[in-house]
Amino acid sequence: LGQPCIDIAKLPKETGHFTYDNGFTATASCRSAITYIDGDAGVLLYRGYPIEQLAEKSSFLEVAYLLMNGEVPSKDEFAKFESEVTHHSMLNERFKQFVEGFHHDAHPMAMMMGMLGSMASFYHNNLDYEDPEQRRLAAIRLIAKVPTIAALCYRHRIGWPSAYPRNNLEYVNRFLHNMFEVPSEPLDLNPVAAKALDLLFILHADHEQNASTSTVRLVGSTGANPYACVASGVAALWGPAHGGANEAVLKMLEEIGTASNVQSAVDKAKDKESGFRLMGFGHRVYKNFDPRAKIIREMTYKVLNDLGVQDPLLDVAMKLEEAALKDDYFVQRKLYPNVDFYSGIIYKALNIPAEMFTVMFAIARTAGWVSHWLEQQNDPENKIGRPRQVYTGAATRDFPNR
Ligand code: ACO
Repeated sequence: LGQPCIDIAKLPKETGHFTYDNGFTATASCRSAITYIDGDAGVLLYRGYPIEQLAEKSSFLEVAYLLMNGEVPSKDEFAKFESEVTHHSMLNERFKQFVEGFHHDAHPMAMMMGMLGSMASFYHNNLDYEDPEQRRLAAIRLIAKVPTIAALCYRHRIGWPSAYPRNNLEYVNRFLHNMFEVPSEPLDLNPVAAKALDLLFILHADHEQNASTSTVRLVGSTGANPYACVASGVAALWGPAHGGANEAVLKMLEEIGTASNVQSAVDKAKDKESGFRLMGFGHRVYKNFDPRAKIIREMTYKVLNDLGVQDPLLDVAMKLEEAALKDDYFVQRKLYPNVDFYSGIIYKALNIPAEMFTVMFAIARTAGWVSHWLEQQNDPENKIGRPRQVYTGAATRDFPNR
């Protein structure tokens, strides 16, 4: 009892080595040509292009094309892609009835999961997805409609009527407009806000086999509907150890409140008994620095400066970063600020409420999820994902006579 009782000799031959790999720290579940990470060197490449160059020279929608198709689009290719995404940004009117069913204070990630799952009922013929063109169309629909769904969920929460996506605006501005448009007033969109959001979307677009992308691929490996696959990705993203960290970081900074409380927060995070972790610190793969955090740190200063926002939480964040980076506990465990340490401060400056932070992440990561789903569906080696386990339960025993 309580001892592993698997008989390795009885495993099927094709299993090869049987390993116990808790949390999949050393197991590749697929081959992929999309994203490369070197966690020790702090390198992140999308289709071979360094994230720093993409952040400087590209746009989110161009990055989405690159992730999906493997190459940077020509002008004509991009124009066609952008026009298709714009064309598909509208939702079926029945989505409004779906959203009405949610309680007004439902978490937007819960609504996103439900709404995306419901898309599988609008585009439900799974046989269609044997056709590569239908698969491409599903990917485009998802990239196009996820921001519209996000804005619809936000507006439902605050009791505003839904708004239609404006086709004369490009992707990020269309989303911001969709979120914040009030019928009676013209909306003055700040180009700094759009630029910052576009950058955040680029940084969050893909990150190889993270928990949510692996989930999309695991569900995808069964041949499930693509919208159901992406809904499962949203579910996995929500947890505070993954995409939910950006919301948790802001809550944590607000709880710390002032720079003078920072040291006690660091001490608490070192005490395992407290169950408290510094949110936005540490990463499964990056063990020296997260290259996205470097880029976003710079952008945080720029956004606050350009928008003239004085946020005392930035001081708290700076002090926290400084205190953790010189503390032996964090240094020895190689715990550095990750991409989400700063994203919340930017979102807050853009008037995006904390409960929408992970939704922002989901919009960006949809580009990665659909690219991985497409790659998997086009891969002749694709087979159903079926992890094994090390059984620790009871050995065979007789049911008691009663
Ligand atoms: N604060 C305090 N201690 C930490 C933290 C933290 N944020 N992160 C890890 N540790 C400690 C652990 O207690 C453990 O200590 P031990 O070796 O003495 O037991 C050690 O560092 C290793 O931690 P693990 O949990 O084993 O590392 P893992 O790779 O499994 O987890 C994770 C990575 C989940 C990101 C973790 O660092 C964490 O919980 N961070 C906070 C949440 C967060 O910011 N998540 C966002 C990740 S980035 C993203 O999803 C975009």
